[in-house]
Amino acid sequence: MSQPIRFPEIQLYAGWGEPMRTECTIDALEVIQGEIPKGLNGTLYRNGADRQYPSGRTDDIFIDGEGMFHMFRFHDGQVDYRCRWVHTERYLAQAKARRGLFGRYRNTFTNDPSAAGLHNGTANTTAMFHAGRLYALKEDDLPYELNPDTLDTIGKTDMNGQITSTRFTAHPKVDPVTNELFAFSYQARGDGTTDCVFYLFDKDGRKVKELWFDMPYAACVHDFAITDEWIVFPFFPLITDMEAVKKGGAFYQWNPDKATHIALVPRNGDASGIRWFKGAATSAGHMMNAYRDGSKVHLDLCLYEGNCFPFFTTPKGEETPPVPPFLTRISMDLDRNDEGFEKSKLCQVPSEMPRTDDRYQGRPYGQGYMIAYRAQDGSSATARIDMKTGALDVYTPGPGDSVQECQFVPRTPDAPEGDGWLIVPVSRVAKNRSDLVVLDALNLAAGPVATVKLPVRVRSTFHGTWVPEDTLKTGVYPYKLSAA
Ligand SMILES: [Fe+2]
Repeated sequence: MSQPIRFPEIQLYAGWGEPMRTECTIDALEVIQGEIPKGLNGTLYRNGADRQYPSGRTDDIFIDGEGMFHMFRFHDGQVDYRCRWVHTERYLAQAKARRGLFGRYRNTFTNDPSAAGLHNGTANTTAMFHAGRLYALKEDDLPYELNPDTLDTIGKTDMNGQITSTRFTAHPKVDPVTNELFAFSYQARGDGTTDCVFYLFDKDGRKVKELWFDMPYAACVHDFAITDEWIVFPFFPLITDMEAVKKGGAFYQWNPDKATHIALVPRNGDASGIRWFKGAATSAGHMMNAYRDGSKVHLDLCLYEGNCFPFFTTPKGEETPPVPPFLTRISMDLDRNDEGFEKSKLCQVPSEMPRTDDRYQGRPYGQGYMIAYRAQDGSSATARIDMKTGALDVYTPGPGDSVQECQFVPRTPDAPEGDGWLIVPVSRVAKNRSDLVVLDALNLAAGPVATVKLPVRVRSTFHGTWVPEDTLKTGVYPYKLSAA
């Protein structure tokens, strides 16, 4: 007899977090308020973790779980929705066994013996569209390519042998102006290794640069940032100790006695040109942007003055108190020779999941977007920050409701920075279902210009990307920097 399937009664799986385990297709979602703006044609892809089967453990964490890939296709005033599991090695093995086979987050030593040799990768973190192909990404595995219309999994890929590392970032940057792809891999030769590699691909998906260098320790490098001359790699002391992992421990440990390191890797040049900067132990998951300003490089990120993942303890097993993330600017002066950096808080409201008008990634910019945390009840809001004045423009979805990461879409390919729409998945927590709202990106406080109702719950999505309708066919983003 097969094992009964029962999820543990833990906070992670209660309420909104209850596993959905549901693929669905809904054509022409109901638009319950306003109208979809004319000209907003394209596809919002988003990716997140769901749970195919229980792991058999009670220490699951929210970033684990099989990739559930979501698609919102906007065409001529209507929106079609579809979500599908990504058919990873892990998903297919569990589907065959009809039970969970994979144990603790990224710890292969805790897997069921029948999963020996299979990859833990869940493909659950983001969507990337480049050179005409769609991918689901998780940073401990190679990309999975998906069919951009059906979301059927095509398979795991090393991009025709071009990815020489064992894994690929889940925070690539596709420059929608030049159509270049910036990417990297950390622990690049395998779990616990200190290798990092930077890749640059041209508009046709051909690798034009590969630069390997050593990290100061086996860090967690969830995100990075780019500028016109430097690629910015932050290393925070969430560190993998393979001896602890082999004993069944957590994949990362928080080491507050170790420094934050930031590497500026030359965009044109080799590893001998890397510049290093150091500061006290901090952490961050997500970068808003970076750019060069004379001899300085500014890195804007949602920074935690402590451990961003309290469920990863110190090597002694000590838990660390949660600390809020604040949008912070780290400024590195290349004319300084003491490896120090300056740090300044840009916003007094805690925030996460920062985004920009993607045309301005790596360039001086004036608008940032983020999830702002505003209440004890778990509710959140979408905020726009004016980078010059610090002024906030905020959309609040309602009591108890929360927002997921937003997506900016320019009004036209050469619209001024920030002139366009923000598309935001909203969690209607009390109603146990979702909405997708479209906001005027220059006036969030005015509320949605359209609200699209989902009769289902979009449980958890981390990141995503917007692909204009023509780009799906041509593989080329049409965007330009505004002359204004
Ligand atoms: Fe992320």
